[in-house]
Amino acid sequence: MGLDCGVEPVEATTSSCNTKNVFSWDPSQYQRYGGLRLRPALDLLAQVDHPDPQLIYDVGTGRGDMARLMAERWPQARVIGTDTSAEMLNAAAETASRVEWVEADVADWAPRQAPDIIFSNAVLHWVEDHESVFARLAESLAPGGSLAVQMPLSWGEPSHRLMRETLTAGSMGTEALRSGLSHAPVGDAGFYHRLLSPHFESINIWITRYLQVLTGDDAVFEWVSGTALRPVLAALDDEDRSLFIDTYKAALSDVYPTDANGTTLFPFPRLFIVANRRLASRIGPVGTPSRRA
Ligand SMILES: C[S@@+](CC[C@H](N)C(=O)[O-])C[C@H]1O[C@@H](n2cnc3c(N)ncnc32)[C@H](O)[C@@H]1O
Repeated sequence: MGLDCGVEPVEATTSSCNTKNVFSWDPSQYQRYGGLRLRPALDLLAQVDHPDPQLIYDVGTGRGDMARLMAERWPQARVIGTDTSAEMLNAAAETASRVEWVEADVADWAPRQAPDIIFSNAVLHWVEDHESVFARLAESLAPGGSLAVQMPLSWGEPSHRLMRETLTAGSMGTEALRSGLSHAPVGDAGFYHRLLSPHFESINIWITRYLQVLTGDDAVFEWVSGTALRPVLAALDDEDRSLFIDTYKAALSDVYPTDANGTTLFPFPRLFIVANRRLASRIGPVGTPSRRA
C-alpha cells in the first residue's frame, strides 16, 4: 500500500506525511455503525454520473469502502484513496483491492494530474477555510469532472449541542477546546452554491435528514464516539473525561430515549453536493487559459 510518504507519483502535496489531527481514529469504533454511515456515501455516489473517468480520488477515504466500490464501478479508472489517518489507511489496505492508498491532508493537497472525480464523504467538516479548499478542489478537476461531497450538519443537533454544553457547564477542557467547537464547521447550502457556481456548469445540492435507528446501550454516545467525540475525549484529562462521559451520556439519554425494544431514533441531517465542470469543448476556444465557467 502507498503509505510510503513522498513516493506516490501523482501527488503534489507539500506535507503528505503531516497529520494535523491531534486525536487518532479508531476504525473499529467507526465501523460499529458502518451500514448507517455507508448509506449517505452510497446516496452521494448514486448522483455521480461521469461517463468515463480515468482518475478518481476518494479524499478522506477512511476504511476505503467507497474507493473500492468506485474501483468496481469504473474498472478502467485509477482510484486513489487519501487520508491523514495511518490507522484508517491500514484498515483500508487490509481488504484486497486495486485501490492505491496515500497519506495526504486535503487542507494542503492538490493532485498533480487533473482527476475526473473527487469524492469526499464525511470529511470536509474536519477542515477549515472552505472557501479556499473547495475552490482548489474545483479548479483541480479535469474538464467534465465531478466534485462529490457530503458533510454532516450535526453541529446544531442536540447530540453536538449537549457536547458543548456539558464542557461549558463543567468548565471542562481548555478554552481552546471549547472555542474550537463554538462555530459550525459546515455552512448552509446557499453558501456552497454561491462558492461553487463560478467553477461549475451544474450543481446538484440537497439535504437529507436520516432517521437512524440505533441499537445497543448508549447508542448515540457510541455513534459520536466514532467521530465528533474523539477530539473532545482526547483533549480531556482522566478526571474530566470520566465526569464528562457520565454527564453527557445522561443528557443524551434524556433527548434520545431508548424504547422498550432497545432501539434509539437518532435524526441526522447531511448536506450533499455533486457539481460538474464544463467539458473542454464547451470551455472556450483552444488556447483560452481560464477553466472557469
Ligand atoms: C468520518 S470518516 C469518513 C471516512 C470515509 N470517507 C467514509 O465515508 O467512510 C472521516 C475521515 O476523514 C479523514 N480526515 C480528516 N481530516 C482529514 C484531512 N484534513 N485530510 C484528509 N483526510 C482527513 C479521517 O482520517 C477519517 O478517515
